[in-house]
Amino acid sequence: MKSSTIFLYGPSGSGKSTTGLLLAQSLDLPFYDLDVEISRQTGKSVPEIFAQDGEPAFRRYEHAQLQRLLSSEYETDALNLLSSKKGKIIALGGGTLLDRATRELAENNGMVILLSAPVEILTSRLLACNDERPLLNGNVSASLPDLLTRRAAHYASFSLKIDTALLTPQQAAWQTNILLGLFRVKGLDQPFPGRSRTYDIIVRQGGLPDLGMLLQNKGLTGPFVVVSDENVARLYARGIVDTLSESGLTTTVHLISPGEQNKTMNTVSRLWDAFLSAGLERGSTVIALGGGVVSDLAGFAAATYLRGVRWVSLPTSLLSMVDASLGGKTGVDLPQGKNLVGAFHTPNLVLADPDTLLTLPFTELRSGLAEVVKHGIIADPDLFDRCASLVNLDRPETIQNDFPGIIRQAMAVKIQVIEEDPFEQGRRAALNLGHTIGHAVELASGYSLSHGEAVAIGMVVETYLAERIGLADPGLAKTIAGVLQHLGLPTAIPPGLDREVILLSMGFDKKRAGGKLRFALPVRIGEVKTGIEIDEKWRRDAIDPGFTRS
Ligand SMILES: NC(=O)c1ccc[n+]([C@@H]2O[C@H](COP(=O)([O-])OP(=O)(O)OC[C@H]3O[C@@H](n4cnc5c(N)ncnc54)[C@H](O)[C@@H]3O)[C@@H](O)[C@H]2O)c1
Repeated sequence: MKSSTIFLYGPSGSGKSTTGLLLAQSLDLPFYDLDVEISRQTGKSVPEIFAQDGEPAFRRYEHAQLQRLLSSEYETDALNLLSSKKGKIIALGGGTLLDRATRELAENNGMVILLSAPVEILTSRLLACNDERPLLNGNVSASLPDLLTRRAAHYASFSLKIDTALLTPQQAAWQTNILLGLFRVKGLDQPFPGRSRTYDIIVRQGGLPDLGMLLQNKGLTGPFVVVSDENVARLYARGIVDTLSESGLTTTVHLISPGEQNKTMNTVSRLWDAFLSAGLERGSTVIALGGGVVSDLAGFAAATYLRGVRWVSLPTSLLSMVDASLGGKTGVDLPQGKNLVGAFHTPNLVLADPDTLLTLPFTELRSGLAEVVKHGIIADPDLFDRCASLVNLDRPETIQNDFPGIIRQAMAVKIQVIEEDPFEQGRRAALNLGHTIGHAVELASGYSLSHGEAVAIGMVVETYLAERIGLADPGLAKTIAGVLQHLGLPTAIPPGLDREVILLSMGFDKKRAGGKLRFALPVRIGEVKTGIEIDEKWRRDAIDPGFTRS
């Protein structure tokens, strides 16, 4: 996707102009409405052009104006996240791309996204706004169905589409962010006034080689240190070093041993040493290349070295793409529990390349799916259904065709939550669904259960708990367990685990939450309630093997 302009296209009333403006604001890009620009250029309104010069002349004006908008005359400083070129968003007219040459011009210079909605909705929107549309002859209700029938095949020929029928303009813009895999997130480092900043999250298949260009665009200068584990470095470190050196950026690579058992202060201490040896200064950047263990460690080392240097996350596991690399939580484990020491330190860039999942061990892929399902339960029933219908998980085609969309959708849930509540003082606690029991089970298993497997178990046990206390819809735990089992994930606490250790481990979560053990529990798919206190009796019952066998 080396294109610089995003074109919004579709019939009148589909929301091109309002959505385009909101999308442009969300990505800090300039916005142009083609009709407005033509009127400005010709000094005539669109209906006047149609009446005086006719439709063929109007199509010529559209082509000429589009050429102008794409020329250097309209160049701005806004960098497009899609390429090294300057970017912009353009809302086209409802029939602009009927002209073959104009369509070619658009498709050669960017990406066309078609917005659509059923005729009744388009009609009611057009009647409500009362704008004059020359091709509708002053009678929207009579003319629009005909016009849409004539253009049906044309509109159907665009592959990137968003149905805006049930969406507000804000939601349509957000769906466009998801479709593009481009998010500009409001980030905060620590709750100090004046330290807010934005950072970009980009999902791009085959996108790792673009890293050098993206770092250059952001004005990030070296020296850089790439932190990676041995498994991931073997596959991807060379490519990262190459893309940086092609952009004239210097890098050293520091390897850590893979696995949760290495997410410790000892490893962080070795990372600080490596940063010193590499000459990292206040303005330098750490690059985390790997799964959640690498991003938690490298992010924490970056947060603390010289009181905080920049870092970039290149997540290579599903779990870290949809969860660990987003939101700026970094840290290490203590023998007593997971993530007990850490810092909020948002990355300056997250670049996720779904193609890296082709080399991810299958059990890790499945583990990441637990967090995807969790995001579906929290806020996105459609994502939950997509997980339920995933098949042939072990095939490369599934990873290449189904996962990019799933990743973008799952990321979007987390991004919305962290934007609302960057420091986990409210809504963000929803992301702990399955984690209170999950973390305790993970620890009690001595990490023989992966994080995702433990979260899968935690979600099911916690949903049974939510049902028993009358919070969740009856049958919800079975529905969730069914989907997790379909994905090959465990849904019950393994019989050999010591219940007292599980209870004790939950106690460390309690310390974290100011003495109260509060759960995030589901009500239904798409809704989770936070801050629910569960007393010790219920906690004991919940981890009893019989609890999930009802
Ligand atoms: N900071 C947060 O907000 C947050 C959120 C969720 C989880 N986490 C943390 O994330 C960690 C779990 O992350 P994870 O599941 O990615 O584990 P991980 O980092 O241990 O990666 C899993 C395994 O996959 C390998 N691997 C990763 N990507 C690969 C690839 N593309 N090809 C081949 N091998 C690859 C790794 O070397 C490792 O052996 C836990 O420590 C958890 O606490 C943090």
